[in-house]
Amino acid sequence: MKRILVIHGPNLNLLGQKDPTLYGNFTLEELNQKIMDFASKNEVEVKLVQSNYEGEIVDELQKARGRFDGIVINPAAYAHYSYVIRSAIEGVQVPCLEVHISNVHKGDAFRRKDVIGPVCVGVISGLGWIGYLLALEYFFFPTS
Ligand code: DQA
Repeated sequence: MKRILVIHGPNLNLLGQKDPTLYGNFTLEELNQKIMDFASKNEVEVKLVQSNYEGEIVDELQKARGRFDGIVINPAAYAHYSYVIRSAIEGVQVPCLEVHISNVHKGDAFRRKDVIGPVCVGVISGLGWIGYLLALEYFFFPTS
């Protein structure tokens, strides 16, 4: 059975309340339910984490080494400047996919910079909650 760690970064606990035109009107609980439904249908073990703290995200990434087959991370605004999270991903040696609910290439110019993407296998941005399920699915392909 594949083991996947899903990390939701800061403010994603406010999904459904925070700018629904950009991030949709689903809550984090609803998103996690969709992830867990996918996990049980596909016999994948998923650990879900949400944190508003950079250090806590780094701790989770460090603990993932040898324990997970893949990581799906939405670093939220940390994507745009956290070299600390980038280094943790580089060090963990577990393939990592970055997901953003919104299309970070639209809107605010500062969101177009992504310091995490270069150390990930790939980045999914702008597909809403579906992006998380596609990221999970990636880990089922033989090359992943
Ligand atoms: C986000 C995009 C980030 O720019 C923003 O700071 C977020 C959410 C997304 O999922 O679209 O908090 O990561």
